[in-house]
Amino acid sequence: MDRNKAAQRVQELHNVLNQYNYEYYVLDQPSVSDAEYDRLMQELIKIENEFTDLQTPDSPTQRVGGEVLDMFNKVRHDTAMLSLGNAFDETDLRDFDRKVKQALDEESYSYVCELKIDGLAVSLKYEQGLFVQGATRGDGTTGEDITANLKTIRSIPLRINQPFTLEVRGEAFMPKQSFIALNAIKDEKGEEPFANPRNAAAGSLRQLDPRIAASRNLDIFLYGVANPGETGVTSHSAGLDLLDDLGFKTNKQRKVCDNIDEVINYVASWVDKRPDLPYEIDGIVIKVNSLEQQRELGATAKSPRWAIAYKFPAEEVVTKLTGITLSVGRTGVVTPTAILQPVRVAGTTVQRASLHNEDLIREKDIKLGDYVVIKKAGDIIPEVVNVIAERRTGEEEEFHMPTHCPECDGELVRLEGEVALRCMNPKCPAQIREGMIHFVSRNAMNIDGCGEKVVAQLYREHLIQDVSDLYKLTKEQLINLERMGEKSADNLLQAIEASKENSLEKLLFGLGIRHVGAKAAKTLAQHFETMDALAEANLEQLTAIHEIGDKMAEAIVAYFHLPEVSELIENLKAAGVNMVYKGPKLAAVEQSDSFFAGKTVVLTGKLHQLTRNEAKERIEALGGKVSGSVSKKTDLVIAGEEAGSKLAKATELDIDVWDEQKLLDELN
Ligand code: IVH
Repeated sequence: MDRNKAAQRVQELHNVLNQYNYEYYVLDQPSVSDAEYDRLMQELIKIENEFTDLQTPDSPTQRVGGEVLDMFNKVRHDTAMLSLGNAFDETDLRDFDRKVKQALDEESYSYVCELKIDGLAVSLKYEQGLFVQGATRGDGTTGEDITANLKTIRSIPLRINQPFTLEVRGEAFMPKQSFIALNAIKDEKGEEPFANPRNAAAGSLRQLDPRIAASRNLDIFLYGVANPGETGVTSHSAGLDLLDDLGFKTNKQRKVCDNIDEVINYVASWVDKRPDLPYEIDGIVIKVNSLEQQRELGATAKSPRWAIAYKFPAEEVVTKLTGITLSVGRTGVVTPTAILQPVRVAGTTVQRASLHNEDLIREKDIKLGDYVVIKKAGDIIPEVVNVIAERRTGEEEEFHMPTHCPECDGELVRLEGEVALRCMNPKCPAQIREGMIHFVSRNAMNIDGCGEKVVAQLYREHLIQDVSDLYKLTKEQLINLERMGEKSADNLLQAIEASKENSLEKLLFGLGIRHVGAKAAKTLAQHFETMDALAEANLEQLTAIHEIGDKMAEAIVAYFHLPEVSELIENLKAAGVNMVYKGPKLAAVEQSDSFFAGKTVVLTGKLHQLTRNEAKERIEALGGKVSGSVSKKTDLVIAGEEAGSKLAKATELDIDVWDEQKLLDELN
């Protein structure tokens, strides 16, 4: 074959192979057999081998690049990749609509509803029709260049018929079937399976070797043009139609809705249809259709005002409760936890859920052996929603909290006004162990590399009896522990050494004196400046401090009267642990130095130790504001039991979430 003829044939082969590829991967309507496709592909490979200069980057043979990358280059997006605000219920959707209506001064407008594909946002850039760059979203401004991996997705055209630069955005994902098959292979190989299709897609596209992505059967739906101005289209739906015409794969379930009622109906219609889709969706995206109106509405720093993502409520599943285990916390509280037959909920496998206390077990009438409904509050914390009484066989057994501590056999006591049962034995090994775990934790002495497991192991091996023993550990002792290498041992010793320099409040909080939370520890350290001064303080001196109440003052005096506490403090001093406050002196500290001062807090879910009103009053007394709904202005969300959409919203907005205990610690 001469070169001219070869060039002509190459062009023909590009055209037919691209067409067959499009029919198979985009339209899902193949017109030729796999064998015919392969035969043509082999012919092209053969010609390209002979005339290497005829091999172009958009050739159908170039989907899987041979090269393994060292790293991904950074890509700055020409147009920022914004994320979306969230709606969790009808009220949120109507709120969104009200704002749109207001901002558009009552002009008429329509919406486009689309499925919210649960994958990975990517951006594809075409220059003079050629696919030149594909990138991840990254932080919205800068992502990573994953062109080689994206080229392996067969539904992405390598060339389009469009001369000017076009940047399109979409969601790369792994279909459910491919995900199941991939995890089956991983299981067989004894490898850790992916938690969900989203992680699998992201993990595949973040591989430096494109052959891995090529083997993963990824797909994509494009949902927008980043620079629509240049295309001549005037609406989002026309933009999607243009993407179709250019050979991109878009999702056909989209719908133009003329008003918010239609949107709400569309959203509702997908709740039941969702499990039947061959890919996962986590919600519905609603966008104002007119591009002109989109421009009028504009965007905040994070997300456009013309679009919102409705997130489906937490998935609920049924599983069997096979047992209840008990754990003893550092204050002696015994907490029951449900042991569940492993079940997948909202992307992960759940095997345990806290039951909090016996009252809750009674309230929900939970019995051993029951089938229960599980959900993840805010898509994170597993929770037993209710029992399915109809599935009882009569074999289920009532659960009773023990009368004695499961760890030390000390008597369990229910203190007045509390729902919890407590082990009152100060020598209870569980309490000692948990107390030490608290001592090393981040807000206390912050000893890195000393997690729960390490502390438990050190205690079990009798290397530490109390926290002062941490400062006597040697490298020889550490490297003999399971899973402790030389490097981790060195790091741990260094972290222990560094903790000696902490300011007094960290040590005070770490000691775990009853009712003394992180904030109170700071107040005490500021007032007394040294451990000795605090240890000698009497009730009067303590309660003279605004934030210190009677209960806490009594607990502090009682604590420092214990002979074992004096001994512990002497040991810590001897080890070289700092006992002095190093922060700003009291006079310089503002009056409103409460944690809650100026903060907006939202309370949600059931609280057990405080009523909502009490919590509100106490937060307000400390200068905080309690609000009913979560928004970007919220600083903190207190999530009690069965917290629902507000917790989910807080998580979405990356707002701090505390449980009731943490609130109590801070209030106290
Ligand atoms: S539009 C400025 N449409 O959901 C608008 N996003 O925060 C940008 N997603 O990570 C997004 N399906 O990748 C849009 N049909 C769809 C979508 C969609 C999934 C993802 C997107 C982003 C997140 C929204």
